[in-house]
Amino acid sequence: MCGIIGYTGRRPAGPIILDGLRRLEYRGYDSAGIALFGDHQDFYVAHATGKLDALIQRVEGTLPPAIAGLGHTRWATHGEPADRNAHPQLDPDGRIAVVHNGIIENFEVLRRKYARGPFRSETDTEVLAHMLAGRIERGEDLLDAVRAVAAEATGAYSLIAVDATDPGRLVAARIGNAGGIVVGVGEHENLAASDLNALLPHTRQVVFVEPGEFADIRAEGVRYVDAAGQDLVKTPETLPYDPVAAVKGPYKHFMQKEIFEQPGAVLDVMRGRYFPDGHVDMSDGVPFDAAWARQITRVVLVGMGTSMHSAMIGRHYMERFARIPAEVDNAAEFRYRRPVLDKHTLVISIAQSGETVDTLAAMDEARRAGCPQITICNTPGAQTTRVADGTLLMRVGPEIAVASTKTMLASMLLLHGLSLYLGRLRGTLDPTAEAEQVRAALQLPRAVGEVLEAAGHVEAIAAKYAQVEDFLFLGRGLGFPIALEGALKLKEVSYIHAEGYAAGEMKHGPIALIDERMPTLAIAPRDEVFDKMRSNIEQVRARRGEVIAMVSQGDHSLDGIASDIIELPEIDPILAPFVSVVPLQLLAYYIATERGADVDQPRNLAKTVVVE
Ligand code: AGP
Repeated sequence: MCGIIGYTGRRPAGPIILDGLRRLEYRGYDSAGIALFGDHQDFYVAHATGKLDALIQRVEGTLPPAIAGLGHTRWATHGEPADRNAHPQLDPDGRIAVVHNGIIENFEVLRRKYARGPFRSETDTEVLAHMLAGRIERGEDLLDAVRAVAAEATGAYSLIAVDATDPGRLVAARIGNAGGIVVGVGEHENLAASDLNALLPHTRQVVFVEPGEFADIRAEGVRYVDAAGQDLVKTPETLPYDPVAAVKGPYKHFMQKEIFEQPGAVLDVMRGRYFPDGHVDMSDGVPFDAAWARQITRVVLVGMGTSMHSAMIGRHYMERFARIPAEVDNAAEFRYRRPVLDKHTLVISIAQSGETVDTLAAMDEARRAGCPQITICNTPGAQTTRVADGTLLMRVGPEIAVASTKTMLASMLLLHGLSLYLGRLRGTLDPTAEAEQVRAALQLPRAVGEVLEAAGHVEAIAAKYAQVEDFLFLGRGLGFPIALEGALKLKEVSYIHAEGYAAGEMKHGPIALIDERMPTLAIAPRDEVFDKMRSNIEQVRARRGEVIAMVSQGDHSLDGIASDIIELPEIDPILAPFVSVVPLQLLAYYIATERGADVDQPRNLAKTVVVE
């Protein structure tokens, strides 16, 4: 959740740390802090509550020359957002500085045992600085001290620590599955950060620190060791990412940019996987053969939030094309209900970040049961990709807005392609049906583009409903997960209370809420359940509820019934979710901007959720 960064090298550390924090801010933004280390034992430290801009204003004109630095942008877990709880956290003598992401579960016990003076914060982090200072004072080396402290501090977290008496040295650790640490390898400089975005302006040579590994970082080199202190050989990987992708360009918000990137994003997903001759090749993420595919008896799809909604669409595809019984699980629930799994259960996990702690825990559960695993991810090298047997990378560039948009389309499309591919391997899908689906999918960039061309119409509808306080989203079949997603998007960015329901469920409770103040968005393309959706719409109208209906292009049968109509471009009905989710993203975006909400950094949320 929090973003952490460290730099050591020959360039001034201050601006590098602040720029890195700007790129990590989407991970948490209730407070921020910086520590800078020069050729002296004291170090400069500043904290500020609120967005990163508050810190930038506070430090303006005061940053000292420095050869190393630490930075932190916070999503509070222990202690309210406040200067005293912002990181870096220090020991009472101000010798050790620590930035930390994740949770120290036994911090209260450790506080009682290792306090070297009064604690200034309510964080679980501060005790790490006290513990390290105690060990350093007894003559222990910083790396050994971090290893020893990590062995005692339970939980899943990552940290970077600096001893002011050896200011050019950073020691980073990753413990458990929460929050990654990536080392960026440069020329006479090195960095470590929670994720790639902060490193991209400086280097594309990176090393992913695995759970249980430690990095001892100096400007001229990095040493990696395991928990026992044994040296590890880790070779830098070269990243394909374009740093330009992480800037807003002409858009007002990243969410807007990422919504409008979607026609290109679906093309990027299909490149090298969907072929105009009518076949798919998903072998880049499926390291198994046809004999293996025929032995799968069941598919379990896991994810959280938007990724779980994609999984719900994927279940339809998996059953329809691969003819494998498929289930969807909320990853956080899956792990605690002792699921029945075996080596013929294919577990497919979806996580754009690849670091979501609940999804990782579900994957661990599947690994223990010997399940083959495929993961869908947008972050090369992320932890989910290291656990799964195969990875289907989205390849849609970084998604910076907290609200997921383009990664939802990417994951739905990869699930579509994967289902077709498994269908072929298993012999459950004939080549004609595969070719039809490939041809239909190749229409997606055009169709999604057409939705975006009509964004002005959605903006006008958003202005009309921007001040309501409750919203209902209804859909059936493939429209149901999209209804859930529409409600989630609206909640996230506009703070309007919204509920997504399977339309058939409406009469079993939600209908009691409907009156003229609670509009309903009905997903009603011309498909096999259209007549049923129409009945639901009539039932809402009969209770004076306003209806925004999303219908197939040219369908006027709801004119005069629905208050507002959004026409969806023509596409194969199986692919309808790709065009119906986009107006809902736009609706949420425009309502949020109309209400003056902070679209890219909604309150209380973080892009990557690494705590339970
Ligand atoms: C989506 O808009 C949300 N920000 C959130 O629900 C998100 O989808 C969820 O946290 C899962 O993230 P992941 O894809 O990185 O696992």
